[in-house]
Amino acid sequence: MPPKLKSVVEGKTRLLVPPASLWSKVPETYPVFFNPAARLNRDISVAVAAATGPATFLDLLSATGARGVRVAREAGDPVRVTMVDFNRASLSVAAKNVKANHLEERCEVVHSEANRYLYSRFEREEKFDAVDVDPFGTPAPYLQAALVASKDGAVLSFTATDAAVLCGVYPEVALRRYGAAAPRSEFVHETAIRILAGFAARMGGINDIGVAPLAAHSTLHYFRVYVRVVRGARASDESQRYLGYVTQCNGCQSRFGGEVQVQRCPRCGKKVRPAGPLWLGPLCDDKVLKDSTQFCDGEGWRDSAEMVSSLRGTDEFPPFSYSVERSASRQGVSSVPLDALLETLSSAGYRSTRQPFESLSVKTDAAVEAFDDAVRETSRALAKAD
Ligand SMILES: C[S@@+](CC[C@H](N)C(=O)[O-])C[C@H]1O[C@@H](n2cnc3c(N)ncnc32)[C@H](O)[C@@H]1O
Ligand SMILES: [Zn+2]
Repeated sequence: MPPKLKSVVEGKTRLLVPPASLWSKVPETYPVFFNPAARLNRDISVAVAAATGPATFLDLLSATGARGVRVAREAGDPVRVTMVDFNRASLSVAAKNVKANHLEERCEVVHSEANRYLYSRFEREEKFDAVDVDPFGTPAPYLQAALVASKDGAVLSFTATDAAVLCGVYPEVALRRYGAAAPRSEFVHETAIRILAGFAARMGGINDIGVAPLAAHSTLHYFRVYVRVVRGARASDESQRYLGYVTQCNGCQSRFGGEVQVQRCPRCGKKVRPAGPLWLGPLCDDKVLKDSTQFCDGEGWRDSAEMVSSLRGTDEFPPFSYSVERSASRQGVSSVPLDALLETLSSAGYRSTRQPFESLSVKTDAAVEAFDDAVRETSRALAKAD
């Protein structure tokens, strides 16, 4: 029996979705999954598609087709969308969504197991200009095949909702799932994104495929990464050169990134646990960020525009950050607002910016002592002004 559906509008698209998904706190995964809270996530997909202009888009784990149908309807120049799911109830809803938006000419709905579908593209010409992987949990089982089904220059995007694993709560699971150490630190979200991008580079490496990240974002519950797929052994070799480790020393609080996995902090000699292997290279492509932000602005999607534009400039800083609250509590002073702190750092001659992947954190070229000084100074100055 096909489930009863309710009609909602997301972006410019009419979507038929299971009614319970609109009021239940945690959306049911069965019989048909839809998460209204993932609107921003889908808005950004539409914006990146508009900015990168794929002719073909694969919505690999489509459920109701919300993402694929929105891309077909909203991303501009006609894009052909293929939606794949192994759940027939979901696919019947996806087919209705295609029809409700008059997209039968440009959208196809395929009943298949995802990897089986992807590998059916292997050594064939029918590869995609964009592939999206939006699983329950980890994208790891799909990435090698998703890269293989991507054309040279394609955009591969993927979601990871196994946030606790990627943020160091279950290090043994991170190790077996991503082949990477994920210790706790003050910048676990950025590290999670870098582990995901690094994992994509390693999966591409198996088939001589390179990746170049275009954008990434993180919320409380999930991570999203967008990479450009670059085919060929040379591109793949170049990607591998960006792999390395990031370390936070829990003794002297200094942090460092580099190719080698150190055992001890080079500054204080304390034993450390580096995170990685992970992606140390750039996470963003400025043109894609600019064009996607412009698209979001044009649609009036303020939260999505803000999310994307907050990434600009991130790559000018090292692959880690400092938590303002941790620094304040280490020094026994009250925490300070970010703007005031950024100003103090700037007048002390340091470059710094808001960390887009963590709350109340700063990316800066200042070392930990200078950062702590700035937090203390700002805190005292604000206390005096009160
Ligand atoms: C998180 S939902 C996708 C949500 C959708 N992209 C959206 O934006 O609304 C994951 C979907 O993957 C499907 N799925 C899970 N494992 C699969 C597999 N191995 N092959 C095909 N579909 C699969 C599930 O049936 C489910 O519909
Ligand atoms: Zn140290």
